[in-house]
Amino acid sequence: MKKLFIPIVLGTAREGRVSEKVAHYVLKEVRELDQFETQLVDVRDFLFGKTEEYSEASKPWQEIMARADGLIIVSPEYNRGIPGELKILIDSLDTEYAKKPVAILGVSSGKWGGSRMAEAILPTLITLGMVPISPSIPFPVAQNLFDENGKILDDSYKGKLASMVKELTWYAEVLKEARNK
Ligand SMILES: Cc1cc2nc3c(=O)[nH]c(=O)nc-3n(C[C@H](O)[C@H](O)[C@H](O)COP(=O)(O)O)c2cc1C
Repeated sequence: MKKLFIPIVLGTAREGRVSEKVAHYVLKEVRELDQFETQLVDVRDFLFGKTEEYSEASKPWQEIMARADGLIIVSPEYNRGIPGELKILIDSLDTEYAKKPVAILGVSSGKWGGSRMAEAILPTLITLGMVPISPSIPFPVAQNLFDENGKILDDSYKGKLASMVKELTWYAEVLKEARNK
């Protein structure tokens, strides 16, 4: 069977974003687990506000999501919501998301780990027909989570990510088979 493809979206374009370290760590772990093919999608490459060609600019994202069997979102919480650039990226497509599972990984400098972002994004994802999986993984106090080489200082995330990948793979396989019927 062809390998599943599940990209990882980094949901903020902010200069100095800590979420970038989390996204790269998640990418590394997912690649090591080797359950599906993946790639990092950076919202910085999709700041549509700068172009009039909204649909043309979203084409690479459209191609990625059309091929994808699911999605992992790594995003901070901004003012208890989702970053605007992540919402723009998601809203630039429509049918490509339907009946595909999505894992939400929140990032914050405070103790809630982006959990309000993980809840705030649900109506959007459900409206688009995605299947949010449980649990979402919070990364609280993320500024203290990595050493200067980007190495994570808390081993517990390895197991949490392995569980998430197992769950996501299960849904991705089941839903892919059902979509192909
Ligand atoms: C505009 C803005 C709004 C924020 N709002 C929240 C918030 O509502 N809740 C929270 O826990 N952290 C909030 N933060 C702090 C982030 O948790 C912090 O920046 C963290 O490092 C993750 O975001 P980053 O990837 O942009 O660094 C906010 C940060 C910014 C820049």
